[in-house]
Amino acid sequence: MSGRVLVAYASKYGGTAEIAQAIAEAMRAEGLDAEAREAATVTDLTGYDAAVVGSGVYMGRCAAEARKFVKQHRAELRATLERLLAPRSAVDWAGELSAVGVPAGPINSVADALAEPQVIARGLRIAPEGIPGLRTPIRFSRSELVLDRAAPMLPGKP
Ligand SMILES: Cc1cc2nc3c(=O)[nH]c(=O)nc-3n(C[C@H](O)[C@H](O)[C@H](O)COP(=O)(O)O)c2cc1C
Repeated sequence: MSGRVLVAYASKYGGTAEIAQAIAEAMRAEGLDAEAREAATVTDLTGYDAAVVGSGVYMGRCAAEARKFVKQHRAELRATLERLLAPRSAVDWAGELSAVGVPAGPINSVADALAEPQVIARGLRIAPEGIPGLRTPIRFSRSELVLDRAAPMLPGKP
């Protein structure tokens, strides 16, 4: 990848800001034109080829400035992600990212989820009352779950 990269961050006490600066610096060392900026000061993504968004987490939520940034620029961020990721398959990306220590997984279709090797190896596929699905991966040493009944239908559904 080449070009101009924005590292937008929201930081209350400075920790995330330092991380964002370090990420931008590492990218510059790789030859990218990267700059870290406070998310709240970015009004326009024009001119950037890619963006990284980072936020501290406070009481289980990302900072308001980070959430606002993603909301405001959702369409552009989505288009950028699609442009960067579309040339290769989700399986390729998952392999590539985990090889460099980035936790990532593909978003599976229902058919993909049912065919997932881990799902098959762990015997998670069930079909109570003929309806295919996945059981909980949690197993109890002294009790086997009753798995022969499908989940109840929502009221009013056939
Ligand atoms: C009031 C407060 C609440 C926090 N709540 C969470 C949290 O719910 N989950 C979490 O993983 N970290 C939490 N943290 C840790 C921060 O996400 C972490 O310290 C982060 O590096 C702060 O970034 P900053 O220095 O850029 O503000 C909390 C920190 C503070 C001060």
